[in-house]
Amino acid sequence: MKNKNIVLAVSAGIAAYKAVELLRMLMKEEAEVQIVLSANAGEFVTPLTFEALSRKPVYHQLFNLESSADMKHIRIAENADLMLVAPATASTLGKMANGLADDALSNLYLAFKGPVMIAPAMNEGMWRNLAVKENIEKLKSRGVKFIEPEEGELACKTNGPGRLANLDTILERVNSHFKQFHDLHGLRILVTAGPTHEPLDPVRFISNPSSGKMGYAVAEQAKARGAEVVLISGPTHLKPPTGVDFKACKTAGEMNNLVQQCFPQCDVLVMSAAVGDFTAEKLEKEKIKKRGKEGQTLNLVPTKDILMEVSKIKTQQFVVGFAAETQNLIQSALEKLRSKRLDLIVANDISAPGIGFQSDNNQVTLVDSNEQVENLPRMAKQEIANILLDKILSGAREK
Ligand code: CTP
Repeated sequence: MKNKNIVLAVSAGIAAYKAVELLRMLMKEEAEVQIVLSANAGEFVTPLTFEALSRKPVYHQLFNLESSADMKHIRIAENADLMLVAPATASTLGKMANGLADDALSNLYLAFKGPVMIAPAMNEGMWRNLAVKENIEKLKSRGVKFIEPEEGELACKTNGPGRLANLDTILERVNSHFKQFHDLHGLRILVTAGPTHEPLDPVRFISNPSSGKMGYAVAEQAKARGAEVVLISGPTHLKPPTGVDFKACKTAGEMNNLVQQCFPQCDVLVMSAAVGDFTAEKLEKEKIKKRGKEGQTLNLVPTKDILMEVSKIKTQQFVVGFAAETQNLIQSALEKLRSKRLDLIVANDISAPGIGFQSDNNQVTLVDSNEQVENLPRMAKQEIANILLDKILSGAREK
């Protein structure tokens, strides 16, 4: 961790005393550690203890003339490579999830632009509370990583989940975060995302409810892990991740042209776009008028299958497809894997409630080129993106 700047954010739980040891462990690994405390963390361990050990002023008061003058929190936020919140209480999680900024810790979190890891610790009733669970889900969907608490005896003399993760586990997670941080360096990854719009006339089009969240999550995580990323996107409401080469398109034909242009220069294609399969045979120049009670028949023709086109020019590239299914999930995914010459397919049942299109979460099944099937539990799309990138990295290396 040499030369790594870590903000160790400590909130007001009984496990705060363990943060003292965690600080020593991080410093032993040669990390530069800046301590920030929540409003009441000082009730458990004094700022002086942290100050003496970290050999730096502790940021613990929001309304303090001295630290406000040099906008300390902004400077810390700008400089750090990682913000590690340990222990995180239910209250601190709630503030972070909901954008509150009424103490030094939550204020810094809002201003912080880098990666964030959270090690929660609380009473088991709080840990099981739905409000806490929802806050955790919210934070996970924004890419925050969690170091899950352990089961065991808690300070309130009950047994159950809620104990701060073992300090060695926390250190190991921080270490592997820095190791994997640039593990995709040197890979050029092309990602497609979102729906396509197939126009019928100047005001109407055929589309689907894809939000683009899965593809944008892959692009964002790939960029964060050091890859060079091109993101080709149909119309969505999402902001392109910073640092990616963003190319917007509307129709399946336009997306196909862009993929054909970019694919030969890339090592990996992640085809998560929900490409329209049909387009109007004839695009009406004027708005189609309603004619009394008469119906309308649309004549549709198939669009080009982009992955099929890619399979004809594919050389060493690692190609990932998606299969959105409402029935026969594995069988249909296998057929697509074989016919489109894919290295990996991500299958999901779009008829299941609470997952798939629009949602921040998904529950997917991966099928690789050896036709090995792996069911992943329901999780945030950001987490699925990272698992996919792990598979891509090992698959692309084997090629
Ligand atoms: N796909 C594509 N070009 C199309 C349609 C789909 O490249 N014109 C890609 C999708 O991006 C996805 C994969 O093919 O990675 C499977 O898409 P899906 O919609 O599940 O299946 P289709 O091949 O379109 O077949 P069907 O709709 O009949 O299930």
